[in-house]
Amino acid sequence: MGPNLSGLPNIGRTLISARSFDEYVAMFALTEDDLGHSILDCPGGAASFAAEARSRGTQIVAVDPVYAAAAAWLAEHALEEAVRGNRHTGSSIDSFVWTFFSDITDHLNRRTAAARRFGQHLETDPATYVAGSLPRLPFRDASFDLVLSSHLLFMYADRLDEAFHVAAACELARLARREVRIFPLISDSDTDTSQLLVAIREAVSARSFTTVVRPSPYEFQKGGNEMLIIARAAN
Ligand SMILES: C[S@@+](CC[C@H](N)C(=O)[O-])C[C@H]1O[C@@H](n2cnc3c(N)ncnc32)[C@H](O)[C@@H]1O
Repeated sequence: MGPNLSGLPNIGRTLISARSFDEYVAMFALTEDDLGHSILDCPGGAASFAAEARSRGTQIVAVDPVYAAAAAWLAEHALEEAVRGNRHTGSSIDSFVWTFFSDITDHLNRRTAAARRFGQHLETDPATYVAGSLPRLPFRDASFDLVLSSHLLFMYADRLDEAFHVAAACELARLARREVRIFPLISDSDTDTSQLLVAIREAVSARSFTTVVRPSPYEFQKGGNEMLIIARAAN
């Protein structure tokens, strides 16, 4: 584990966070065209992206190990996690850019609303939520046009090593017919992620995928404003 220079204490147990559809659209610079294609969201956590995307007609599956838990418990736990995440954010306000959220109360309200929407959808449409863990997911090659992965890789670099990052990124690439987008490329703990990025790019390139780092229009955690795109090369 690297030194923590930001003043932001590590979150502790991996947060089951609840980002909204709007947050996903901003993080991944999603277009209407993207949303017209099939999407895998891994890890889905307690995000309301799948619920909201599905209500707009997007074909989407969310995967997370936590979906093995009972739906009623998880719906309740998601709300508790929104509060825990908000306290973590509030403990280091200056580590964040307050443009997407106006303030810490807005953050709590929007994350809580997303967690509630997730919990309702989990109970009414459980088929959207598949229990699974990187680096091995239960789908055939190229099952989804677009694969989105937010706030697991890089973010938890203090506890997930390079071998895990490489294996997980290769697995996400295996599942993408078009491309994978991973956001952000920084950690929660000030652990240096640059070598992880190099290792992932080398590994997927060796499997004939192309990679590019693109700016994201969204920055909440300071410096978290880039995504890695891993694209399947055209035949
Ligand atoms: C910070 S949340 C991100 C959730 C969502 N993408 C978002 O941005 O709100 C991290 C998630 O990673 C999940 N997770 C932990 N280990 C995992 C693994 N090996 N494979 C897939 N997901 C995992 C956790 O259960 C948790 O829900």
